[in-house]
Parts: sequence; C-alpha cells; structure tokens
Amino acid sequence: MQVYILKESNSDSRVAASPDTVKKMKDWGINVVIQDNAGLKSNFSNEEYIKSGATISNEITDISKSDLILKINKPNDDEIALMNEGSVLIASLDPYNNSETLNKLKDKGVTSFAMELMPRITRAQSMDILSSQSNLAGYKAVIDATYLFNKAMPMMMTAAGTIAPAKVIVFGAGVAGLQAIATAKRLGAIVSATDVRMAAKEQVESLGGKFVMVEDDETKDAETSGGYAKEMSEEFKLKQAKLISETLESQDIAICTALIPGKKAPLLISKEQVNSMKPGSIIIDLAAESGGNCECSVAGETNNVNGVTVVGVKNITSTISQDASSLFSKNVLNFLDLLIDNETKELSIDWEDEIVKGILVTKNKEITNEEFI
Ligand code: NAI
Repeated sequence: MQVYILKESNSDSRVAASPDTVKKMKDWGINVVIQDNAGLKSNFSNEEYIKSGATISNEITDISKSDLILKINKPNDDEIALMNEGSVLIASLDPYNNSETLNKLKDKGVTSFAMELMPRITRAQSMDILSSQSNLAGYKAVIDATYLFNKAMPMMMTAAGTIAPAKVIVFGAGVAGLQAIATAKRLGAIVSATDVRMAAKEQVESLGGKFVMVEDDETKDAETSGGYAKEMSEEFKLKQAKLISETLESQDIAICTALIPGKKAPLLISKEQVNSMKPGSIIIDLAAESGGNCECSVAGETNNVNGVTVVGVKNITSTISQDASSLFSKNVLNFLDLLIDNETKELSIDWEDEIVKGILVTKNKEITNEEFI
C-alpha cells in the first residue's frame, strides 16, 4: 500500500504527516511518498522525511499511484483529478460548506473522510483534530492579544507605581476557550468567561476564571448529546447581550471562540458594544471564519474600530504550525491505525464502526449525508 502526503496548496503552513508519523507508517509496512517540501513551513525538511523512510515526490502525478492520500485541507481540482476510484482521502474537508469539492470526490469514486467530524467519544479522543487544533488556537489567541495590547498582563507593583492586571473575557468555554482561560491566567490576567452550556461553569472555575452566564430554563437544555451547544432563542440572546454589555465595558481583551457546529457562529459582541470598550482594548475573534462572534470582525483582517483592535482570525493554527502539524499528524495516524489490518498491512475498513461511519463523507460515488449536498 502506498500513501501520498500532499503539500498544502493554500497559505496553510501545516502538513498532515510528521517525520515521526511517517516512521510509524513505514514500520507498519506502508510505502510513504511525500510531496517535495510539504513539511518545510512546519520545520520538517525533506531530509528528515527521507531519514524516516519516505520518498520525496516532485511529480504530483504520483497521487495516481497511491491508495491513500493525506492532506490538512480539502484537495484542489488538479489533485482530485489525479485520484483513483476507490482511493482513500483523509483530510479536513469542511463538509457543511464544501459541496462542490465533495461532489468532485464523489464523481471520482474517492472514499473520503472528514477528520473534523470525529465523534466526541472517549475512543476517538486521540483522533480528534478539533481538540488538538483548538487547544493550540486558544493558546495562540491570547499570545497574539498580548502582542497587540499596549499594556502589561499581570499586576506589577513597582517603585514607580502599581500596574493593574489586564481583564480578559473569553466567549465560549470549549476546548479553545478553556486553553485561552488557562493561558491568560498564567500570564497574570483577571479572567472571566461565558458559555451557554452549564457544564462549562465548573471547568471555567477550576481554571480560576469567573463564569458569567445567563442561567434560565433554556440553559438547562443547551447542550446536545454530543456535548456541543445548541442555537439559542431570540429571547435568550437578548438576555445574554444585556449581561455581556454590562461586563464588556470593563474588559481589556476579549477572546471569542463560540461556535455551533454546522451553523453560523453566534453573534455575541455588537458594534455598539465594541464602541463601549476602552480605547486600546483588543478583540481576537477565532470564530471569524464562521461568521464571527463580533459584528466588526472580518476574517483575515485586523481593524481599528474606535480605538479597539478587532482581529478577524483566519487559520491561527497555521501560525503555530510545527506543533499543530505534529498533533494533526498524530490524530491522522491514530485514525489510520483503525483502518489498517495489522496482519496484512492493507486497508481493512469496518464500515459499521462508529468512528468510520461518523466521519465518512463520500463512498461508492455517493455523498453519505444529505446535509453536505
Ligand atoms: P465548539 O468549538 O463547537 O464551541 C466552542 C464553545 O462555544 C462551546 O463551549 C459552546 O458551548 C460555546 N458556545 C456556543 N454558542 C454560544 C453562545 N451563544 N454563547 C457562549 N458560548 C457559546 O466546541 P468545542 O470546543 O469543540 O467543545 C464542545 C464540547 O465537546 C465541550 O463540551 C467539550 O468538553 C467536549 N469535548 C469532548 C471531547 C471528547 O469527549 N472526546 C473532546 C473535545 C471536546
């Protein structure tokens, strides 16, 4: 069996296999081919991959000789055109927003798996790219905010006077939010956070953050069985907006991480609320690519709104690519382990497995879920 690791064709600096995971695949008896300089922007050189047993490919046509293709983001048209019927693609395919790509994969007869659909079950934790990447995103968002902030984060008592600690509020206390809280606390900030899931309260408090939340009948049932947030009613949104208005005025930094899977991100900070913040405040909106938690954020842009710096983050994990690639690669390797027969070293997929079923998006010239079409 041959695996082909593609270089990202957009500006993403990550790569879907590290020298460590290549070595493991080689140990399993897989022939590993990696596109020239695919890992360079994650500080993994061709030489390191060769040392791990990979062959470097200068010809993208090598895709057509491969049974398995690994990539971080969706493949482009040229790459899909080279894939064979029955070959297996593992990547982050953004299936709810990419029907065009899924249709092309379907027409080619490619079996494709979207890693971001990984079920949130204990057995799949080691394969969960949303967790591994969101954790790094939450950390980096706080670091980026401190870089833009023209004040210090911790309290400092000096002979020249006392500097007050920065106040950081985190919207959404999921994986990214909890890491943002932990990072801001370690830097000495006073941290608060908000979420719609009651379960988040204890987690925020255990990290030393203050939990700010509208608690009513709706929040008792705000979590899906998968652990995700539901979309809230208009009435709840109004109550939440009032609470946020009262809190936001006193904050220096807002880190936005609130998401609802498959839907537009909830709008949590209006333009009016941005205007109520102190000049010099920073908003880092990790939800910008899903529509944004802040009305003023534009994905990929940093704007000054009345003295407040609003960063519409686009693919923050690419800016921490070495760690992000290592973890993504490990997630992919752990999923591959499930697909490969230990004896024959060939693909042997149990189509009834909850994990396989959960992330399969195209197979036998069909798209598996009509929500993706
Ligand atoms: P996510 O990225 O979908 O959303 C981020 C956060 O935004 C969530 O905490 C969500 O409740 C919150 N949110 C949504 N709407 C909001 C609103 N209107 N206002 C404020 N906050 C809002 O979620 P993520 O980070 O992927 O985690 C979701 C859940 O999955 C969590 O309960 C987490 O603990 C759980 N999880 C379980 C794993 C496992 O068992 N394998 C692995 C990773 C996460």
